Amino acid sequence: MARPAVSMASAPTTPAVELEDIQGLVRFAYKHHTEAVFLLLRVTDRAAARAWLARAAITDALTRNPAPDTALQVGLTSGGLRALGVAEDIIDSFSPEFVEGMAGDPSRSRRLGDQGANDPTRWLWGSGERVPHVAVLLYALPGLLSGLQQTTEEQLRPGFEITGWLTTTNLGGIEPFGFADGISQPELDWSRQRPACDIAQPSYVSVSCLGEFLLGYPNEYGLYTPRPLLEPDRDAEGILPRAEDAPESCDLGRNGSYLVLRQLGQDVSGFWQALDRYAGGVASRREQLASSMVGRKLDGQPIVTLQSSAAPAGDNPQASLNAFDFRSDPQGLRCPLGAHIRRANPRNADLPPGGDGLVSQLVRILGFDSQAREQDLVASTRFHRLLRRGREYGVGVTPAQALAGVGAGEDRGLHFVCLGANLQRQFEFVQSAWLMSTKFDGMREESDPLLGNRRPVGGGMPADRFSVAQPNGPSQCLTGLPQFVTVLGGAYFFLPGIRALRFLSGTR
Ligand code: HEM
Repeated sequence: MARPAVSMASAPTTPAVELEDIQGLVRFAYKHHTEAVFLLLRVTDRAAARAWLARAAITDALTRNPAPDTALQVGLTSGGLRALGVAEDIIDSFSPEFVEGMAGDPSRSRRLGDQGANDPTRWLWGSGERVPHVAVLLYALPGLLSGLQQTTEEQLRPGFEITGWLTTTNLGGIEPFGFADGISQPELDWSRQRPACDIAQPSYVSVSCLGEFLLGYPNEYGLYTPRPLLEPDRDAEGILPRAEDAPESCDLGRNGSYLVLRQLGQDVSGFWQALDRYAGGVASRREQLASSMVGRKLDGQPIVTLQSSAAPAGDNPQASLNAFDFRSDPQGLRCPLGAHIRRANPRNADLPPGGDGLVSQLVRILGFDSQAREQDLVASTRFHRLLRRGREYGVGVTPAQALAGVGAGEDRGLHFVCLGANLQRQFEFVQSAWLMSTKFDGMREESDPLLGNRRPVGGGMPADRFSVAQPNGPSQCLTGLPQFVTVLGGAYFFLPGIRALRFLSGTR
């Protein structure tokens, strides 16, 4: 929906961003740090756990030359805050999704598609007693991970039990199905130049206000996302910064973000063998179908035409693969409406597509254009961006090997990681309303072709289809799609600012 212009007074001057207080993962994907492991921990000795968190060598978001050899990041679940002895009223002032947890409510599980084979009761970790308290994410340049891991685990032992080791594999920027990944990312406005006010934006851009990904800064609505703000007497040592929008309070959220971690098992053989059946064994057709499900070719090229009008992301080397939106393909003739990247980021602006003239804009704002109304359902992408930081795991196989059944039955997939300041409006919205929903952009009976869990919905309506619009006739519709991705674990973490982490490790 187009929103009315609201003038929001943020801070009178715009203070610089405190990169030294932000965990580096918000700014860097650590792509050169090709080795990584995520440790899942439960607190066994509160005092020892706090002592480790108080002095852990967290890598910050400052640019260093050369880059550090290794990086260490820390996230905490709401159960983790409780185990550390953080006061209940402080925990309750985090977002409700975080407090309840990813697997903490059957209605959330239903909306996220965590049913049937994805049901949390079947997860390897992340539900019931297997919800971790803390995640320690370790990244290292080639050859340096095992040393870092060994030292870190020794330091952790007095305070924690390590309940899970999420190992990762460097597949060279290719996800297990065989597609180039990590290409499209929102570009954060680190210099705080983007106006933090809710004025309708007529075309899609990839730049996001900092407050979309970091608490304590204005978001795309020009507002500060709710977060824990404390009376100064709760912070006797004066560790926390004051809130920009409420200087009488200490800002426990400032420079923090929410981190979503989901272990997604991928049936790579099942994927290529199913596509081969649909393609009648014709290799070129098989690859074309796979590309239409993703919205990009295996090498990352988008299947819609690149446009010069779509602003490429500034210092992103892959910007040339991102200079497109879907305005030139409203019916999905080039890129199906249900393709993964089109669902995950419809690249729409606040106004449905149309001319730039005043009358045209007014007609669309007022909703008089019926086609525009339908498209408006997936509009305003800028409020639903995700900063993805996932890592692959398991032994890689090529599409040809997978087709021949090599590695079938082995566990491989994606440790999906994304960051955002608002779990509900970002991860949960994208996952439920866009990826899993069978009612997306005028479509029925299908959900995301990669991620859908294919269980019939609403009294038996099928959800296992994928339709590809055709220029001269009805859509081609694949039916009986198998499930290719299974959720094997997951949790919501708070990735605190570094001062906030020190505060949390000492609060009573
Ligand atoms: C095993 C599971 C998944 C696989 C194999 C997968 C694969 C891909 C691939 C190949 C791309 C295109 C490359 C790129 O633009 O970076 C992509 C883009 C994307 N995916 Fe996924 N993905 C998975 C899960 C998810 C989940 C769970 C979400 C969100 C809840 C998600 C959100 C996105 C987004 C936001 C984009 C970028 C779209 C754009 O801006 O154009 N993906 N994914």
